[in-house]
Amino acid sequence: MRVRVAHTPSDKLTAPVGVVIDVIRATTTITAALASGYERVICTTEVAEARAIAEQEGDCVLGGERHAVKIEGFRFGNSPTEYLSPVAKTLVFSTTNGTPLLVSAAERCETVLLGSLAALDAVVEAVRATGTDDVVLLCAGVSGELAIDDLYVAGRIAEQLGGDLRDSAWAAIRLARSYGSSLEGLEASQSGRDLHRAGLQSDIVWCSRESHLGVVPTFRRLLGTAAEVTL
Ligand code: MLT
Repeated sequence: MRVRVAHTPSDKLTAPVGVVIDVIRATTTITAALASGYERVICTTEVAEARAIAEQEGDCVLGGERHAVKIEGFRFGNSPTEYLSPVAKTLVFSTTNGTPLLVSAAERCETVLLGSLAALDAVVEAVRATGTDDVVLLCAGVSGELAIDDLYVAGRIAEQLGGDLRDSAWAAIRLARSYGSSLEGLEASQSGRDLHRAGLQSDIVWCSRESHLGVVPTFRRLLGTAAEVTL
């Protein structure tokens, strides 16, 4: 299998299978929400779009953040632990970097999976189960820039996948190997520093725990410009 890594969202690599990675916190939070009983997550790029969808949907809850802060009028922010006791079947979700990349990936890859450390082994297994010979790991980064936390996770996934690892994958693997633990890798990132500033350090710890969830969120369809994700 050819394995490549898009280090930033402006690397528009395409492959039949794409794995979107925003480990701190969007893809971890979506994984936690679906593992906990939410039936679907509708991801939007824009806040206004999320509000409009929520109005149409009725039985749903709004969640998300801008620059680590809960969006005004939304019930929940972007901490995985806010989603462990579902309050509706549908979560309408919008974040700064993760959900826009998901929508963009959904427009250019046939299969889009969401990557996290929380479901690391399950993600690797899900990529293999697609039977693809070409995968791209897509890092959300921070405001268009490379973010160490996402590249760390891409390196961990790439290393487990093995196969025809291209230089973009090797760079991620070498970065991942330079940290003694996943917590160290996540703490070293801009996303980690942003959460520290927001007083949300416990989320970094939660996002760094490996393979305690056995599910992999998968993109199902576009609803206008929003992306619906389920298990
Ligand atoms: C994002 O999508 O930009 C991140 O998930 C931000 C955050 O950690 O809240």
